[in-house]
This record gives sequence, structure tokens and C-alpha cells, in this order.
Amino acid sequence: MRILGIESSCDETGVALVDASGHATPRLLGQALHSQIEMHQAYGGVVPELASRDHIRRVLPLTDAVLAQAGLPLSAVDAVAYTRGPGLAGALLVGSGVACALGFALGKPVIGVHHLEGHLLSPFLSADPPEFPFVALLVSGGHSQLMRVDGVGRYELLGETIDDAAGEAFDKSAKLLGLPYPGGPALSRLAQQGDPQAYKFPRPLLHSGDLDFSFAGLKTAVLTQVKRLAHAQLDGPATLHLADPLSAQQKADVAASVQAAIVDVLVKKSLAAIRQTGLRRLVVAGGVGANALLREQLGAACARSGVRVHYPELHLCTDNGAMIALAGGMRVQAGLALAGEASEGYRFDVKPRWPLADLSASSP
Ligand code: KG4
Ligand code: ZN
Repeated sequence: MRILGIESSCDETGVALVDASGHATPRLLGQALHSQIEMHQAYGGVVPELASRDHIRRVLPLTDAVLAQAGLPLSAVDAVAYTRGPGLAGALLVGSGVACALGFALGKPVIGVHHLEGHLLSPFLSADPPEFPFVALLVSGGHSQLMRVDGVGRYELLGETIDDAAGEAFDKSAKLLGLPYPGGPALSRLAQQGDPQAYKFPRPLLHSGDLDFSFAGLKTAVLTQVKRLAHAQLDGPATLHLADPLSAQQKADVAASVQAAIVDVLVKKSLAAIRQTGLRRLVVAGGVGANALLREQLGAACARSGVRVHYPELHLCTDNGAMIALAGGMRVQAGLALAGEASEGYRFDVKPRWPLADLSASSP
């Protein structure tokens, strides 16, 4: 079964074709992505209306490119999967509208996929796919969660952030340092030149005894530190950005210290989740999963505890269409997708807010 996947929940338009036949390991037949990062950079963050309009421009040319890559006509598509939520409502509506129109034109079923389920299952397209059950650390721009995953559609929330997400902590700290959006990759590049012990930033809820996270306080601590360093050089020339008076080394030290704090919390809480569940496998997914220090420290900590860690391929860490096509395909393989959706007249709705654990409640 060939599933076309469309991702449009935020600032990336992703389209991909995945083969998920019978019980065979799903295979990626083609994929294309357009990132809107450059467009949003001028505003320091995602502008929802601009995002929706750009998705409209990109989605069909990307679909053509994917089919050309796979060497297949549109009629070879057996089902169309799209991101139904969570995400920006207008952006989600573009993907869902296009998916339902394609499904209607082809007379094929349409599957509304949960964005985080896409991230969660994305390592199944890697050369070293995990086996169920596992603990999943989902760390993206909008979410930080630890889940127990017993199978497709069987997700139990173990802990989550009570305020900012890990990616948000990277992005906001980067902004305070005057780095371009999205801050995560820029901050971790700068951190390579810094001393992670230069500043002691808080590790909130590290010893709370539960698996929840909190990253909002980190932003305040970084702001205070940057202000302190900037004020120490008040005699300097007037500057446009708060962090401008800082030396390159001071900025790198702040970046390295923030990254160390975020990674420390993510590693310790992941291991606590492993201990609590007794499971021996960890899957790391979402944009922050691309962070090199996180990979290094989780790898070392898990090796010491005899735990296997699985990641998606690096290019599938951030948002993409392949994970949506894959999740749609795996839901069909697991007998969970609504193959009868065609009979419902291709009605579609989107769910900008949609807890992942709700999927388990609706599973048979
Ligand atoms: O999963 P994703 O592409 O989009 C959402 O669903 O949110 O994640 C984007 C987030 C952003 O906050 C970005 O700064 C962060 O992932 N990110 C990173 C890295 N690459 C992306 N954070 C830290 N280190 C990275 N290398
Ligand atoms: Zn995402």
C-alpha cells in the first residue's frame, strides 16, 4: 500500500510517499520538503498567516516532485495521510484540504494523522528500527513529553512540560543572544566554542520525583545573566541588541551553559522514565533530537544502563512528510486507520490542540 503523506502543521511543507504493504517494513519511495525558515527569519519567529499562504504555494509542486522521484503516477497512491493536528489551524487546513481533495479525486481513503505520532514512529524508517514497547522522548518546538509506547496507537503519557517546550527553551535563549530563528541549531553551533560550566543555570524539576519538565525559568535565568554581562560593559557604545556588548566568548559560554542545562534535564528524566517503566528501549524524536550533545550524553548514559537508543535518520528529526505517510501506513497496518473515511464524504477538520494520549482512548 502506497501512502502519500502531507505535513503542514507549522513552518515546513513536507510531502512523501511511503510503501507500507502487509506487515513488511515500511519503505520511503520519495520525499520533498520546503522549509519556510528564511521567510520567517525576518520576524524572529513563525508568522501563522504567512505560513498558511506559503503551504498553499508549495504543496502541489512538492507532490509532483515526490511522484517524479518515485517514478509513479498520482493514480498509484492508495491512501493520503495528512497532519490533522496539533499545530497552526490555518496551516493545518491547507494540508488537510489538499489531502481530502486528492483523496476525493482518486476515490482513495484519507487518514488524519497526529503530528507527534509521526515524530514518534519516524525511527521505523531508519536502518535500525526499534521494537515495541519503548519509552519515547518527544522533544520539539512545541512539545516535551515522555511517553510509554506499547504499539501503534497505544501511548501513555508519563510526563510533560508544565510550561515551555525544550525546543522553545533553545529558541528563546538563542533569541536573547541575538541568534537567528530557529535558535536550536544556531545555539548548539555557538555552544561548541563555549564552556558548559561557565554559568550555572537552573535544572528545574530535576529532583521533583515525577517525569514532568519545566523550562520557562531557564529563559529568565539566561536573560538575567545576559543583562548582568551587558551591564558590566555599560561604558561601551550604544547597541541595538541586549547581547551586543557581550564578547564572542561570553556568548558562546552562555550558549554552552544553557544547552548543558537543557540536555542534563532531558537525559536524567529519560533515564528516570526507563527505570520507572522497566523498559530497555528509548526512542528520541522531534527537532531537538537532532542536538549532538543530547545524542552524545543519552548514548553514554543509556550504554551504561544497558538501554538501546533509537533515533530517526537526522533528516527525519525535524518536521517532514515521510513521518506522516509512515504513521498513516502503520495505522493501516495495525488496523486503526479509518479506511471507510471515503464514505463520509471527505469531510475534514483539524485539531490545533490534540493530546497524543487521546489516540489511545480512541483505539479499539
Ligand atoms: O519537531 P520540529 O521540527 O517542529 C515542531 O514540531 O516543533 O522541532 C523544531 C524545534 C525548534 O525549537 C528547533 O530550535 C529545535 O527543534 N531544534 C534543535 C536542533 N535542531 C532543531 N534544538 C537543538 N539542537 C538542534 N540541533
Ligand atoms: Zn514537529
